[in-house]
Amino acid sequence: PDEVRELLAARIHDVPDYPKPGVTFKDITPLLADPEAFSALTDVLAALVARHGATKVVGLEARGFILAAPAAVRAGVGFVPVRKAGKLPGATLSQTYDLEYGSAEIEIHAEDLGAGDRVLVIDDVLATGGTADASVQLIRRAGAEVAGVAMLLELSFLDGRSRVERALEGAPLDALVTV
Ligand code: PRP
Ligand code: MG
Repeated sequence: PDEVRELLAARIHDVPDYPKPGVTFKDITPLLADPEAFSALTDVLAALVARHGATKVVGLEARGFILAAPAAVRAGVGFVPVRKAGKLPGATLSQTYDLEYGSAEIEIHAEDLGAGDRVLVIDDVLATGGTADASVQLIRRAGAEVAGVAMLLELSFLDGRSRVERALEGAPLDALVTV
């Protein structure tokens, strides 16, 4: 609903010149600190889990964990973390992706997903789409199906949407707030 989107948008604050001059950081901590807004966000994400028929939620370290875990609990499905490389103790699958400078690597526990799972990926911000794209690849390599990607905030001027939609091959990309 539009009222919820407006509430969420109002609780995401612009921080100019962070982390470097000329960049405006989108700070979600005011939203998290507001129980009404955080609960409304959790409801919307849990509804997407149900609508897309997801059997698992994958959250992306670190800020994605904060949104994805309560959504999984509210929807009554399991939560699986995608972590930055070197943090998971078991047998992992790993995916490298390019950043503006250098590259990043993320991992998932291979045994946490399998055939028969339909996964909704949840993260806070869609920027270039590199993180979400790599997560979609990891989930498929783990043998599961991707039910969709859900983002709190989409930075449309970076056009991460086209990259993620290409990766999704027809599965939905939902963004609750777009700037
Ligand atoms: C941020 C953000 C997204 C990602 C989006 O995470 O939380 O996960 O970047 O960027 P992309 O679309 O260009 O991939 P970051 O790794 O900076 O920090 P975090 O650990 O605080 O989530
Ligand atoms: Mg992140």
